[in-house]
Amino acid sequence: MAEWLSFLTRQGLQGACHPLRYLRVQSLFKPQHQINNFNGVQQLMSSETRYSDYDAMDRIFPPFSEEVYKVYLVNLEKLVLQYIPKRAHIFDLCCGRGELTQLLQEKGYQVIGLDGSEVSLRYARENAPGVEFILDDARSLKFPSTFHAVVSIGSSLDHVISIEELENVFKNVYEALLENGIFALESYSEEDALSHYSVPIRNGHVEDDYVWIGRLTYDREKKVLRENYTEFQLLKGEWQRSDVTLLSRAYSPAEIQSVLKKVGFMEVRTYDEERDLGVSGRAGKTFFVCRKLLK
Ligand SMILES: C[S@@+](CC[C@H](N)C(=O)[O-])C[C@H]1O[C@@H](n2cnc3c(N)ncnc32)[C@H](O)[C@@H]1O
Repeated sequence: MAEWLSFLTRQGLQGACHPLRYLRVQSLFKPQHQINNFNGVQQLMSSETRYSDYDAMDRIFPPFSEEVYKVYLVNLEKLVLQYIPKRAHIFDLCCGRGELTQLLQEKGYQVIGLDGSEVSLRYARENAPGVEFILDDARSLKFPSTFHAVVSIGSSLDHVISIEELENVFKNVYEALLENGIFALESYSEEDALSHYSVPIRNGHVEDDYVWIGRLTYDREKKVLRENYTEFQLLKGEWQRSDVTLLSRAYSPAEIQSVLKKVGFMEVRTYDEERDLGVSGRAGKTFFVCRKLLK
């Protein structure tokens, strides 16, 4: 906390609220924004519509291996970390279970993580004790200009399936960055969706007292991947059923670049993870890196 306050002082933000306190106050009085959902239907977004679908995915998605996050770290070294100070402030947006957050913290960065899933954040707090984790929605977060870098990996923002909402997220990220700050975003493109889901996929898992079944279909017209999961749990001798659907949009690189530029980001660059960063098996998975330039 003391470090945060001295950081704010160095940034000329004396007297300003601690950014987390600011965010919490914002959340209490969060206005309801009019947004369009994917079908163009007007919705009201409030804390009740926080993206929390991953709460139900706890037993379905196992954590990725440590190796996966080490590769992410190597990529982020090349794309972001070499350009920011050693003890820079980094925002891990849609941090999930906090594995990357932990690696960044271990490297000496001052990290804050945000995610919409309470369950994921429970793991994150165990993985990276001492890091501040915020339960909120990337579409409505408000953060003062604080961070040297904002990173979002694991195709997390592909779950924001309306381009208007994606623009809101990018605006919020832009505000949260210091001048000259870097935003690095990983997104899975249509090339990736078609290579994995050109035909519907069925998967699942069976234990004596627990079963899940998944059906994954890609809608080429809407460019939306729909993952339907059904779980059955044997509780007190009775099978209980629950269902969850995850949606993600396969944005084209041109769409993402254009929204980043629209909100003011400069030097927008695109890196295919296999072709440009040399990670085999990751063709179509793309990093977008851009800057909030000095005025
Ligand atoms: C595939 S997981 C990736 C998590 C983490 N970045 C990683 O790579 O390990 C996607 C995460 O994004 C979060 N997420 C998606 N949309 C969100 C939103 N609008 N606001 C907050 N979190 C969101 C989910 O809750 C989930 O934890």
